Amino acid sequence: MLEIKDLWVSASGTMILKGINLVINDGETLAVMGPNGSGKSTLSYAIMGHPQYKVEKGEIIYNGVNLLEKTTDERSLLGIFLAMQQPYEISGVTNRDFIKQALDKRPTSDGKVQSVYKFAVKLEKAINDLHMEKDLADRYVNEDFSGGEKKKNEILQMKMLEPSLSILDEIDSGLDVDAVRVVSDNVNELKKKNNMSLLIISHYHRLYEYIKADKVVVIADGRIVKEGDASLIDYIDQYGYDQIKKDAGIEDEVELLETCAFKEAHNA
Ligand SMILES: Nc1ncnc2c1ncn2[C@@H]1O[C@H](COP(=O)(O)OP(=O)(O)OP(=O)(O)O)[C@@H](O)[C@H]1O
Ligand SMILES: [Mg+2]
Repeated sequence: MLEIKDLWVSASGTMILKGINLVINDGETLAVMGPNGSGKSTLSYAIMGHPQYKVEKGEIIYNGVNLLEKTTDERSLLGIFLAMQQPYEISGVTNRDFIKQALDKRPTSDGKVQSVYKFAVKLEKAINDLHMEKDLADRYVNEDFSGGEKKKNEILQMKMLEPSLSILDEIDSGLDVDAVRVVSDNVNELKKKNNMSLLIISHYHRLYEYIKADKVVVIADGRIVKEGDASLIDYIDQYGYDQIKKDAGIEDEVELLETCAFKEAHNA
């Protein structure tokens, strides 16, 4: 179970997340929605321990372990995986070596690392399942991959590492209609097999048609402004974030602050 309590996160001296509270139970899928720049990717980086994002206050607990005391690789070994919105390219390292190295840090039940043969068979199957080109296994990680190939490559890593919690940050952006379905099928399969928990960030209704959310939170300006079940996704689709902000009284608050600042500046 992931528990986030009163999380405040800054980057480059600016406060981005301002008191986030959420829980994801084992096997549960949480959809995190919100306008561009509201702090969704920042939340995923904070969970994973990205060095540019400073946790100013609050707690992130995973299965009773305080993640804030753990390095990013330790968080990964605890079973947390992040499929990034903009995956990095790693020149000089093949996909195959990259994934094998990561897997070798996770010894099997007999304490040994996975054999090269078993690894190769599993990798080939995963590439087939994702309808990826075979040669992608031996190309450098994400280098010269198309946008969609990069996104599928994140899911390839997820399939190989079999995390207990996956954070998928806009996994559907850049994927064509068929690829969204293929990726969703693969996510759902792993979820069923391992009771994997999911934190899904997406702007598009289509992804949530394939991967069902148990609960939904909406973040605006670094705060959770609305929570609900999957019907909230339809509500956002129909009315947009402006309506959500109005419901939460955000516009009024901003207007009030701006008015106060304006009056102060003009000694009114
Ligand atoms: N390293 C950083 N330094 C300074 N500001 C940052 C940094 N990272 C993010 N921000 C700012 O924090 C805010 C939240 O960014 P974030 O990437 O978390 O948004 P998001 O909700 O994921 O948006 P999108 O839907 O466009 O992906 C933005 O205003 C962004 O410019
Ligand atoms: Mg983002």
